[in-house]
Amino acid sequence: MLKGKRIAIVGAGKLGEALVTGLLHRGDVESKHIIATVARTDSLQRVRERLEVEAITDNRTAVTGRDVVLLAVKPQNMAKVLKEIYPVAQTNQLFISVAASVTTAFIEERLPEGCSVIRVMPNTPALLNEGMSVLCNGKNVSKEQQAIAEYIFGAVGRTAFLDEKLMDAVTGLSGSGPAYIYVVIEALAEAGVKLGIPRDVSTLLVAQTMLGAARMTLETGQHPALLKDTVTTPAGCTIDGLMELEEGKLRVTLVKAVVKAAERARELVRTE
Ligand SMILES: NC(=O)c1ccc[n+]([C@@H]2O[C@H](COP(=O)([O-])OP(=O)(O)OC[C@H]3O[C@@H](n4cnc5c(N)ncnc54)[C@H](OP(=O)(O)O)[C@@H]3O)[C@@H](O)[C@H]2O)c1
Repeated sequence: MLKGKRIAIVGAGKLGEALVTGLLHRGDVESKHIIATVARTDSLQRVRERLEVEAITDNRTAVTGRDVVLLAVKPQNMAKVLKEIYPVAQTNQLFISVAASVTTAFIEERLPEGCSVIRVMPNTPALLNEGMSVLCNGKNVSKEQQAIAEYIFGAVGRTAFLDEKLMDAVTGLSGSGPAYIYVVIEALAEAGVKLGIPRDVSTLLVAQTMLGAARMTLETGQHPALLKDTVTTPAGCTIDGLMELEEGKLRVTLVKAVVKAAERARELVRTE
């Protein structure tokens, strides 16, 4: 899908690096077809050594003639970068942005008329190729460009396409989600410590249990309630634990956390 495609990563920080690593590792793209930019000359060495791709600080040069331009700078730097690349941006290029809360309209308005823009909300496990990236299309995206973007983010985890109006919800759910899960891991590990299990072993038990439960959900395709039922023996131990969770209002608390984070994401959206 990406064979022969020339890709520019504008802002090769943590996420940009993870994407380049994922793409090179999968063997879809040759390193000579990737160029990366950073803000500071100090960062050039890091990118060249770690990614073994060409790295420069001139975004305009990097974007010129590229098939795919991945915009991976922080949201507050996006307007400045778009202004810089405007003179060389072409309608046959695909622009993909990962900047949180930056809409496709914001980007389209700052690029020449007709440019194709896809917005992506990845999450931090992308750094370990276990990310969840949700993509949404701007105005001018073709089926082929959609497939290219999906393929690129498939290099760092799973992908899904949604309508842009759901991106704030996505931010509150899978974007912020790892933080909620870390709290759950920490709390359960603490429970193990309370019961005498050494902290490192307790954390291992919890994290692997979480990973196992997540894989069971993804790979069996069964409803989580059904999977829960298979662990819950009548009059056994698990039902007592579950009743405590219900009394502590775990479900409603999680729902409220996601809704609150999504509301905050809506407040932060950059449209102009
Ligand atoms: N990290 C994640 O898992 C994650 C998840 C979801 C969304 N995102 C989004 O991804 C974007 C990048 O996040 P990150 O965590 O990778 O941040 P980061 O590590 O700080 O990377 C940002 C990169 O942008 C470079 N940069 C800044 N201004 C630039 C400019 N004018 N031209 C070219 N490069 C420039 C920086 O260069 P220097 O290295 O020289 O400073 C840095 O390498 C953000 O918009 C964020 O919202 C990230």
